[in-house]
Amino acid sequence: MNIAVFCSGNGSNFQAIADNLKSFQPAKVALMVCDNPKAYALERAKRAGVKTVLVERKNFNSKDEYEAKIIANLEQEQIGLICLAGYMRLVGPKFIKRYRHKILNIHPALLPAFKGTHAVLDALDYGAKVSGVTVHFVDEEMDRGPIILQQALEIKADDTEDSLAERIHRIEHQLYPEAVRLFVEGKLKIAGRKVKIC
Ligand code: GRF
Repeated sequence: MNIAVFCSGNGSNFQAIADNLKSFQPAKVALMVCDNPKAYALERAKRAGVKTVLVERKNFNSKDEYEAKIIANLEQEQIGLICLAGYMRLVGPKFIKRYRHKILNIHPALLPAFKGTHAVLDALDYGAKVSGVTVHFVDEEMDRGPIILQQALEIKADDTEDSLAERIHRIEHQLYPEAVRLFVEGKLKIAGRKVKIC
């Protein structure tokens, strides 16, 4: 199965997935889709020998046109799974319809708590004693789709955003490849909001 990873920034989750799948015959990361020319993720893809496509929203009149360009690239590479990994855009409804139940996302908190783009800091500021990581299917609403895997971690009294983010990243780099493997092996069955791992 050919996998596409979508990135806007650092790309450490891309790296974790690509490295992990090297020893996994049935799937490979065939494409990185990136919307930010300055993203370090592009450099990582180059080094990992993964094809990249840079698609910038500003070069298109509408979100539909922007996403149609991405879909054309995905179809060319016969992509069967899309992993959003620090991709800082909401995926549009047409895109989701085309790849329904084939798009995963990773979120640095225990959903449905602390949705949105500042989840690590939000959990810290809220005074939560635990937070964690969630891998979920993507649907039309941000951070809402059916949950595949979650792992909790303790927030320490002296944690800063950086120290907490670092421990969260370490978990992400284990959890995301695990979810990808489960998907590729056909072990995820969705029933409504619930994902059964068989
Ligand atoms: C991760 O913390 C992920 O949970 C969130 O964005 C961050 C991306 O990090 N969605 P990286 O670009 O993979 O290093």
